[in-house]
Parts: sequence; structure tokens; C-alpha cells
Amino acid sequence: MRFQTKNVHFPQKMETSEVSKTKPIYQTSAFSFHDIDDMESYFEGKKSYMYTRMGNPNTDDLGKGVADLEGAEMGVASASGLSAILAGVLAVAKTGDHIIATEDLYGGTYQLFAHELKDFGISVSFVDYSSREEIEDEIRENTVLLYTESITNPLLRVEDLEGIVKIAASHGLKTMVDNTFATPYLIRPHEIGADIVAHSATKYIAGHSDVSAGIVTGSRELMVKAKGKVSILGSNLGPFDGWLGCRGLKTLSLRMERQCSNAQKLARSLEGHAKINNVFYPKAVSEEGNGAIVTIDLAEGISVQEFSTKLDWVKIVPTLAGVETSITYPVGTSHRPVPKDMREKLGVTDSMIRISVGIEDAEDIVEVFQKALS
Ligand SMILES: Cc1ncc(COP(=O)(O)O)c(C=O)c1O
Repeated sequence: MRFQTKNVHFPQKMETSEVSKTKPIYQTSAFSFHDIDDMESYFEGKKSYMYTRMGNPNTDDLGKGVADLEGAEMGVASASGLSAILAGVLAVAKTGDHIIATEDLYGGTYQLFAHELKDFGISVSFVDYSSREEIEDEIRENTVLLYTESITNPLLRVEDLEGIVKIAASHGLKTMVDNTFATPYLIRPHEIGADIVAHSATKYIAGHSDVSAGIVTGSRELMVKAKGKVSILGSNLGPFDGWLGCRGLKTLSLRMERQCSNAQKLARSLEGHAKINNVFYPKAVSEEGNGAIVTIDLAEGISVQEFSTKLDWVKIVPTLAGVETSITYPVGTSHRPVPKDMREKLGVTDSMIRISVGIEDAEDIVEVFQKALS
């Protein structure tokens, strides 16, 4: 070998005898083969990996890890929550089909459904999911899917999943549930009969605000379709992000336990406060807790801008579910794409702050909000 060849091909032996405690990161865009027949064996199903866009061990681990917790046959990881939602929807719906979604959706999902799916020739009706009649009135011949969130963003309405699954079953429809806010720690929609569960794994699944990722879970039949969509739409998750997601997932229970308990204490401390109109915090979600998000609607005359500057160590960030307590302003961020009249109908107000409660000492969290209010 001459210098430049040696420079590129210096030895990097693949270790086979040493067993790393943590899974190595397969930071590679493709996998190599001994010969052409060996490459052909991928297409015969004898090998799992060929090209990272079509599958990678770290990415697949994350899909499988979440599928196991959700009680599903298979899970597919992708580059974001929205790409996972799209892959799940396209596993069920095609051009000419119709979907019925709850009207109190995360703003990005609303935008995906109202604009992008429309361009795919898939129509979506947004209805009040608290009314069985409204859902049933909207069912058409080409309806294929009922779509909802287990705990809605930002009003934290807890969906009656049993009721939704019943309606779907009686009309031969599939159901898909965004379980981002609840996580399988609190709610497992497949156990209730949902066909597809989606996550913005950017949130509690990964848990540390350092990765963008999404997951869909469901039957092997549906998930093979969803994986095909992720692969061909090119919305696959990178290996390192898959690895980070897996690392975060390991502490999901611990984080959720502490975050739910802290959120319960914060919600209690804010209820009835003279400077707050309304505290939104769910009840009776699960024996494990009621979630880690608290939404508050500030009283008239209290400036959201001023309040947001008095929160000391609490960051203002347009995301949620990290280990640090943070706040966001839904009207300015997550619900910006939702038309004003729809926001008003839903009750997403200009004076609303959504608090994502972290793992700090509960007393410090309560104190920082009480101080800001006073
Ligand atoms: C409930 C819910 N679903 C889906 C998404 C989209 O996830 P991502 O930002 O990872 O695409 C979000 C993002 O905030 C969300 O809150």
C-alpha cells in the first residue's frame, strides 16, 4: 500500500470476542458483504441489514424497546414524531380515503393532516371527540381511521380510548393514538384495542431534550407497511439518535414516576391561586400517576410575558418532557398553526402557559412558580 491508500485503509478490526456492556453505535450508512451471494442473502431475508435508510440495529432497538413497553408486535423508529405519525397514517390510508381526527390535536399534527395529507388526496375531518354522535355522524364510506391523542396537548383532556375503539370496531375502522404525553408508563392503548400507537420520542421516550425521534407501534402487518414508508420517504432515524433514544428509554419509569409526582404537587399548589383562572391537570389517568404536564390559564391582567421572565431557572422552550422543568406558550408555538377560531373554540387561550414538570426537588418547583406569581 502506498501512503494515501494506507491512510484510508488503516486497520479497524471488527471485534468479535470482546462484548461491550452497552450496544455499540452502528454509525454507518451501509453494511458490507463478503461477496455478491452474501449481499443477495439480505434480499432472501437471511440478513437483517444492508443500507441504514432501510434499517439499522440502533434504530431498530428503539422501535423494539417501545413496542415491548406498549405491548405491540413491532415498532418502527423514524426521524421525528411527525414522520412517525405520517408513516402510521400511510400504513392505513391512501389517496381517496378519509380520516376522522380529534379537533384538539397538537398543532403540527393538525397542520400535517389539514394541509399535507390533503395534498396526498387523503381528507381529514376534525371533530369533538367528547361526542360519540359527532364522530359517528362524520363516518363515510371511505373513512378508514379514527385518530386521537391519549392525553391532549395543551388542555390535557384524557381520551376515552375504550369508547373510540368501540366506535371504530363497529364500523370496521382502524384506530391510531398519539401516546406522547402519557407514555406506556401511564397508558397502553394497544391493551385497549388501538391498532397503531405513535410517539414523539423527542419527548418522554428519549427524555433529555437531545434527540428528535418518533415511533409507531402495532401489528407486524401494519408496521412492515409503516417501515416501508419511513424507508422510501427517507424519514429514517440516524444510528446515534437511535442509540441516544435507547439510552433515554432505560430511565422512562424512573423519570415518569418523579415527574408525575412533582406535577401532582405543583398542580395542587397552583389550584385556587388568585392570579390563575384555571389549572389543567388530569385526574385518574392511571394508578402510576396523572402525567407530568400542568397547563395554567393566567388571570386577567397578569401578563404572560412578565410571568415568563420571573421564573428564575425555569427555561422557556418550545418542547416538553425533558428532565428539567420548562414552560412554553402554546398559542405562540405548538398551536400557532391552528386557526384562531378553532383555538378559541377549543379553549386554547392567549393567557395559557404549559408547564413541563421535571425531576428537580418538588419544593423548588413549587417555590419558583409561587414566587413568579407573587
Ligand atoms: C403530542 C405530540 N405529538 C407529536 C409531536 C411531534 O413530534 P416531533 O416534534 O418529534 O416531530 C409533538 C411535538 O411537540 C407533540 O407534542
